[in-house]
Amino acid sequence: MAGIPDDRPFDEPRGRELTKGALEALPPNARVFLAAMERRFACKLYDGSPLAPELERYILECGRLSPSSFGLEHWHFVAVRDAELKEKLYVACFSQESVRSASLVVVTLARRGAAYKPDSAFIKGRAARFPGGWPVFRADYEGYYDYLAANNLLEHWARAQTYIASANMMTGAAACDIDSCAIEGFKEADVLAALGLDARLWLVGIITVFGRRAEESREKIREPLESVGEYR
Ligand SMILES: Cc1cc2nc3c(=O)[nH]c(=O)nc-3n(C[C@H](O)[C@H](O)[C@H](O)COP(=O)(O)O)c2cc1C
Repeated sequence: MAGIPDDRPFDEPRGRELTKGALEALPPNARVFLAAMERRFACKLYDGSPLAPELERYILECGRLSPSSFGLEHWHFVAVRDAELKEKLYVACFSQESVRSASLVVVTLARRGAAYKPDSAFIKGRAARFPGGWPVFRADYEGYYDYLAANNLLEHWARAQTYIASANMMTGAAACDIDSCAIEGFKEADVLAALGLDARLWLVGIITVFGRRAEESREKIREPLESVGEYR
């Protein structure tokens, strides 16, 4: 689709909020990253052509490498290619065409609140990987856990982690010319039922769909930096 501004090659970021000089002064990798950020848009319709397995794996790698609070990797990624399952997810997502037409639908789950108790098997397993193991981890973690638990924030916290993975997968996909959209519009119980998962153990953090666009990309609508941020 020639002529669409966001289809420029990655070595030509537009950087509308940056002066030409500032853009040119960026290291090459930053320009590539910025171009991927600019390229991504919320794609609502895909051509359904399968993605190469290496690309699927790469997208999931972008999720896997994402940072998470206390390094706990609260998530579990279910990457759906199967058309029948996608159809069920489509229904669970308020019949959003993006879900049905996507090549890959990644449902990012998070463990429910009980998993995060400082002495749970999950926490012990994750903590064992870190220097000093669980005893050192627990000493650091317990205070924050108590705060989250006392304020009923555990699952909010867990869900928030999945958004970071989703964002990284989307930007990573854009760097390979793969389109995507985050999907928050889903009926959680129906998504879990479609996946055959126990709602007592899992919550749905976010769904992210990937594929090749079957619609034109859209111009970004964003506030200028001055209206959404400030230096102090
Ligand atoms: C957390 C999150 C949830 C979203 N959920 C949906 C959704 O359910 N359906 C949809 O069509 N778009 C969804 N979007 C896409 C946004 O509407 C879109 O990202 C926003 O309008 C900005 O447009 P852009 O991504 O094209 O720059 C979601 C985006 C985010 C970040």
